[in-house]
Amino acid sequence: MYSEKLMEHFRNPKNMGKIENADAVGKVGNPVCGDEVYIYIKVNDNRIEDIKFETCGCAAAIGTSSITTELAKGKTLDEALELTNKEVVDALDGLPPIKLHCSELAVDALKAAVKEYLDKRKS
Ligand code: FES
Repeated sequence: MYSEKLMEHFRNPKNMGKIENADAVGKVGNPVCGDEVYIYIKVNDNRIEDIKFETCGCAAAIGTSSITTELAKGKTLDEALELTNKEVVDALDGLPPIKLHCSELAVDALKAAVKEYLDKRKS
């Protein structure tokens, strides 16, 4: 059902945990299944210098959270905002169609974190 790549990220997630002094946190939940993803970011010179996630959810939500943090690390804020769900799913060699919605949580949480950071800077 799941690709080997997804199982690898599920078993050994990258960047899992919390950044205590994060510059911003994005939180997204799926009201249907109740799963939640938090993405913490540290920003330096407009780039995501550090990123971690905490995910309470299914294997697909955890695997996509892990790969999303890997894809986002080192990107500029604009590049992070352009990251698509498809790029995340492709990086995991695909997901079963019934699990595609799970992959949206991490990307949405990343974008929520970047937007929170940009909003804080404006005020
Ligand atoms: Fe809830 Fe996968 S079943 S995110």
